[in-house]
Amino acid sequence: MNPNKALWEKGDFTQLAETMRESGAALVDKLGIKKDMRVLDLGCGDGTTAIPEAKLGATVIGVDIARNLVEAGNRRAKAEGLTNCTFQEGDATDLQEVPDQAFDLVVSIFGAMFAPKPFDVAKEMVRITRPGGRIVMGNWIPGDPTLVAQILRISSAYTPPPPEGFVSPMLWGVEDHVMERFGGAGVAKENISFERDTFTFSAPYPPSVFLDKFRNYYGPTMNAFEAAEKNGKATDLQNELEALFTSQNQSADNSTSIPATYLRVTVQC
Ligand SMILES: C[S@@+](CC[C@H](N)C(=O)[O-])C[C@H]1O[C@@H](n2cnc3c(N)ncnc32)[C@H](O)[C@@H]1O
Repeated sequence: MNPNKALWEKGDFTQLAETMRESGAALVDKLGIKKDMRVLDLGCGDGTTAIPEAKLGATVIGVDIARNLVEAGNRRAKAEGLTNCTFQEGDATDLQEVPDQAFDLVVSIFGAMFAPKPFDVAKEMVRITRPGGRIVMGNWIPGDPTLVAQILRISSAYTPPPPEGFVSPMLWGVEDHVMERFGGAGVAKENISFERDTFTFSAPYPPSVFLDKFRNYYGPTMNAFEAAEKNGKATDLQNELEALFTSQNQSADNSTSIPATYLRVTVQC
C-alpha cells in the first residue's frame, strides 16, 4: 500500500480534529468565501475547514488520501444536513479525477503539506484552480517553538532516519521553498503572499489526555512511539512530550488550550 495513505489510515485523526473545530471555522471566516463559490479542500481530513466552507454557502469537495477520514467527513456533512459538501478519496500528488481550472478556491490546511512530491502537489493545486482564483495553504513551520513543530522535532529524535530522498513536510513552512514549488508550477513570486497566524487546539480535558490522543490516534506519533518502544525509550518520549504539552497549555482549569503558529500561504492564480 502507498505508505502515505497507510500512515494516515493507521490512526484516527478525527480524535485530534475534534480539538481543532473552533480555529478551523475562524480560519475559514478569513478566506472571503461567498455563496456558490466552488471550493476544493485538499487533505481535508473529516472536514474541519470543509464543513464551515459549505456552511458559508460554497459548493465544497473535500479530497483526502485516507478512506476512514473521507467516510467520517461524509458522515459529518450528512449529520449537518449539508448537501453542498461531499468528500472523496484522492491523492494531492496526482488529482487525476479533478478537471483543470475547476475551482475558485483551493484550500489545504495542514493537509497537502503531508503529501510527498511537493513540486507535483503545487502543480496539481495550480492546475485545478481557475485563472483569477486562489490557493490558500496552512503549513506548520519548522523550528517554531509552538506545539506541532515541537512534537515533530521531538518525535523525529526517536524514529529511524527517513529513507533517502524523503522531503520533510515541514519545508512547506519555509517561504523560499513555497516560492520555489509554486514557481515550478508557473506562479510569479509577486502572486504569493505569507502571513503567520495562530491555530488553537481546544479540549475539555487536560493536556495529558490530549497527548494520549496523539499517542493512540495520530499516525506520525504512533510510529514514533512504536520505534521508541523497540529501543526501550517510550517512557523518555512520553516524558518529553508531556513536558511540552503541559508547558504550552494556556488553560488555567483542567482543560486544554494550546496555541500553535502556522504559515498561511495565499497564491493568486
Ligand atoms: C494533519 S491532517 C489535517 C486534516 C484537515 N485539513 C484538518 O485541518 O483537520 C493531514 C491530512 O492530510 C491528509 N493527507 C496526507 N497526505 C495526503 C495526500 N497525498 N493526498 C491527500 N490527502 C493527504 C491526511 O489523510 C490527513 O487527513
